[in-house]
Amino acid sequence: MTAAAPDRVPAIEIFDPMCPAVLKDPYAAYRELRDHHPVALLEPLGLWVVSRYEHARDVLGAPDAFSAALAFGKDSSITDTRGAEPRRLNLRFAGDAGGVVSSTDGETHTRLRRTVAGLLSKPRLDAAEAAIADRVDRVLAELAGGGERFDVVEGLAKPVAARAIGVLMGLDEDVTRVLARWADLTARALDPGDELSTAAAGPRVMRSNLASFRAVTAFLNSARGVPGGPPNVLAHSWQEAAGPAAREEVILAILQLFQAGYETIVSAVCHLMAAFVIDGPRTPGFPDGPVPAPDLVDEAVRLASPVRATFRTAVGPRTVGGVPLPDGAMVMVLLGSANRDERVFEDPDRPRPGRPTTHLAFGAGPHRCLGRMLAQLELRHIVGALAARTRSISSIEGARVGANILKAGYDHLPVSVEWR
Ligand code: HEM
Repeated sequence: MTAAAPDRVPAIEIFDPMCPAVLKDPYAAYRELRDHHPVALLEPLGLWVVSRYEHARDVLGAPDAFSAALAFGKDSSITDTRGAEPRRLNLRFAGDAGGVVSSTDGETHTRLRRTVAGLLSKPRLDAAEAAIADRVDRVLAELAGGGERFDVVEGLAKPVAARAIGVLMGLDEDVTRVLARWADLTARALDPGDELSTAAAGPRVMRSNLASFRAVTAFLNSARGVPGGPPNVLAHSWQEAAGPAAREEVILAILQLFQAGYETIVSAVCHLMAAFVIDGPRTPGFPDGPVPAPDLVDEAVRLASPVRATFRTAVGPRTVGGVPLPDGAMVMVLLGSANRDERVFEDPDRPRPGRPTTHLAFGAGPHRCLGRMLAQLELRHIVGALAARTRSISSIEGARVGANILKAGYDHLPVSVEWR
């Protein structure tokens, strides 16, 4: 018997986004998808996957054809019909409650995006930069005082990321801590095997959502702010909000923005460290080489995209890459695969800082990331401070990748350090 041609093998057998092993290391599966099933239906999940760069950009660039408001389909979940009991994955458990900038279309999206863009504008970033640099320095000084080992996730990435987004949003340390705890919890809610990924965990996630709602409301009502931080635009919107719906919008905006600006950075710090810093100086560029930090950042997130996939829903029957998709098709755009598409990136599995920054790690089209400049700023300070304070950073046992259907980062990334 001869083996079936790869394009006859059902796509789900190549790429199963419910399978932990595939999620931990999806790159071989991505390549097979790109080569043999570039636009494919994962039948048991009722989900279409788009894996090539060109098609990913087409979907993200056509908001009228592919809705972000309906991104997660009509009930925000994926149902796996294999097995005796259908398994449901509620995509909204990840913290995006809907009605926020990333999950709206048209005029509502334009209005919400304008507010968020104002919050992440260059003048605000400039005003926040000193506080962010100071946090990076303090965190590293504390780590240096604590010995020769630390976990990049807990010791470095989380404290810096939480403080940076907190300062930009004008949140004080107490609220920042509550939101960071909430973001840590909801980030795990889609991880396969995590107890939080089950439907039974719903009430626990909801309680955490409620705690963060309360903390944010109390903060907005007290109109406290970060001393010396940039003016608090969100507190202003809160005061101006006419009625409960407008107030709810402000709270949701804060929660989503915190999550968008926290989790992604935590992952990006780890990916950058793993690609260019740990076990160096193995690449040009770190710590003393000629490659500018922004190039390292772009290449790190191209190679290992913190947001591995994003979702859209087809409005009306559509065609992608010549493949017809029905009205209402739920489309999973594999950014992590598009960023390794050999049709666009030469030798895509190798780190090569300085490539053109046309990757899709920050998305594309009207929903492209608003936090790119902030991400660059934080990572630049981290890379610079590590270069100044360390002679070498080496991997040690215990690194654990944490990945789910939407995101990929590390749960633990322990290192040993020779401080300068
Ligand atoms: C390396 C870090 C980051 C990566 C890889 C990343 C990635 C992305 C991606 C892929 C999207 C588009 C999602 C889609 O089209 O469905 C996005 C949107 C967004 N990002 Fe980021 N992001 C990062 C950092 C940040 C930071 C620091 C913030 C700051 C708060 C932020 C705020 C946002 C917002 C508000 C949107 C939604 C924009 C819209 O819908 O119009 N991101 N991000």
